[in-house]
Amino acid sequence: MSNEEHTAPYRAPTGEAARLSPRRVRTHHLQRFKDEGQRFAMLTAYDAMMARVFDEAGIEVLLVGDSAANVMQGSSSTLSITVNELLVYARSVANGADRALVVADLPFGSYQATPEQAVHTAVRFMKEAGVHAVKMEAHAGTAPQVKAVVEAGIPVMAHTGFTPQSEHQLGGFRVQGRGDQAHKVIDDALALEEAGAFCLLAEMIPAELMAELDSAVSIPTIGIGAGTAATGQVLVWQDMLGLNDGRLPRFVKQYADLRGVITQAVQSYRADVVAGTFPGQEHTF
Ligand code: KIV
Repeated sequence: MSNEEHTAPYRAPTGEAARLSPRRVRTHHLQRFKDEGQRFAMLTAYDAMMARVFDEAGIEVLLVGDSAANVMQGSSSTLSITVNELLVYARSVANGADRALVVADLPFGSYQATPEQAVHTAVRFMKEAGVHAVKMEAHAGTAPQVKAVVEAGIPVMAHTGFTPQSEHQLGGFRVQGRGDQAHKVIDDALALEEAGAFCLLAEMIPAELMAELDSAVSIPTIGIGAGTAATGQVLVWQDMLGLNDGRLPRFVKQYADLRGVITQAVQSYRADVVAGTFPGQEHTF
């Protein structure tokens, strides 16, 4: 690599360019975004086709979230999804994405017990799904798990603030780090950076706290419901593309109405079938 290439800001190719010359986004690119004051986007993905669409659209990071329990399996919480179930989604996304960094969540109960358990589960995601990093909902108390996984050679994205796997302990879906709780979010972030996390994701914390957290750590940050100060942002794709008909959190911006588009298309298909106008001559052998 020439010196110029090394120092030039990372620019993600999109569309045809991304398809023809995939260049894998790696953890050091995210660090470069932070160092150079650029932002990047992460979206969830659970299958190969959507992963390919998002990849070609230029999304830098794809998260195979345990939100699959909600949006793919219809559960009301993320606690139920198993390692074997999430591995299938993770493998599908890794197969579909040529360029994006693919990160998989470690499901509830698969890493909290001991550092050894965390390494065992993270290795399964790297080996059996082919993802490039794992995400762990973590705090200062579980920093040893993060450290052990990093020492096994696996990049860890640490998820702080509101952590859905602890929803019952946290008393439901609530903004974290308000008032004198703010220091805990910062202390957790510092402990997780110290443990070797390459990136910190903070969910549902006040925007000012996100700004403080982003300055306190040197690694890149990702926000969801945390204002604009983070290096990157993440949303669940079914929420941001308007497929989810449930109640959406305030932090979601809807960029499309896929539910409306799909409903209309499916109604047209049914009407054609009922009227006998599909299949037409052109679809018939
Ligand atoms: O599982 C998930 O989709 C997540 C995001 C909401 C950050 O953890």
